[in-house]
Amino acid sequence: MAIRKVGVVGCGLMGGGIAQTCAAAGLETVVREVSEEFLRKGMKRIDAFLQGGVDKGKLTAARKAETLGRLKGTTQAGDLADCDLVIEAVIENIAEKCKLFAELDAICKPSTILASNTSSLSIIEMAAATKRPGLVCGLHFFNPVPLMRLVEVVRTISTSEATLAEAHAFAKAIGKTAITAKDTPGFVVNLLLVPYLLDAIRALESGLATREDIDAGMTLGCGHPMGPLALLDFVGLDTTYYIANIMFDEFKEAKYAPPPLLKRMVLAGHYGKKSGKGFYDYAAKATKA
Ligand code: 3HC
Repeated sequence: MAIRKVGVVGCGLMGGGIAQTCAAAGLETVVREVSEEFLRKGMKRIDAFLQGGVDKGKLTAARKAETLGRLKGTTQAGDLADCDLVIEAVIENIAEKCKLFAELDAICKPSTILASNTSSLSIIEMAAATKRPGLVCGLHFFNPVPLMRLVEVVRTISTSEATLAEAHAFAKAIGKTAITAKDTPGFVVNLLLVPYLLDAIRALESGLATREDIDAGMTLGCGHPMGPLALLDFVGLDTTYYIANIMFDEFKEAKYAPPPLLKRMVLAGHYGKKSGKGFYDYAAKATKA
């Protein structure tokens, strides 16, 4: 694998998780945020996750220190210039992402692979903002990144064979299993996951069963680690609503149409865990009120 140094743009939940995973796998990693405040917050989350691993006996304090030693935080885009791979995990807004890709294209060395962690936006649109479309691909990670074993490698109509091979080698090097998907909204996982989550909301909305019984049905009946409503709270209702709308716009199929209850909850600010309330209540220490 030619990738020795990785850059990550955005140190939120996904970007921070990606940066942590790369550093933990032994790669020199630099993560960029727009402000010192966001960077501090992101680094604190990474530190807490690693400490959680130490407390659980999953890694030693020495491994934690080594991982943090390989991870550099910055607010300067120029620090990404000599990275072999840069993965962006900024806000899901196509205009912002295209602007960032053009900026990265101008800053990074000619051989740098540029990747997006988008869950549903068009990678080819981002590639078109650069002069290196053959070196652009999607690398879609799953939340929580350090624990979820999958990466979707997304190939556009312009992604070169060499870039695809490097992306797969990178995924393997950081301990993930990669699958390849075409550049269409949702790729493989969200294409299947989102209609399932929306159906769970429809089931609740129609009074089929309680939230607890819908979730118990899928955890105990199908062996899922979380029921669909708990997973919606975990992923974020706003995020799911956003992805579903993009998929509905593209495919015009009713199964991707956000149900009215989802829209109402998003309008009310009930985004799930991150806002303290979704299908369950997270405000109190005792969750799932
Ligand atoms: N460091 C290292 N290991 C840790 C850790 C840490 N800080 N925290 C937890 N772990 C380990 C645990 O030790 C445990 O390992 P084990 O299986 O060997 O014992 C494992 O991770 C699971 O941790 P917990 O037992 O503490 O937690 P849970 O069993 O409750 O699992 C979960 C938590 C992994 C989040 C699980 O509930 C799960 O897999 N949920 C589904 C998540 C999911 O579907 N994510 C994808 C969402 S879709 C998406 O992201 C796409 C986007 O585009 C929308």
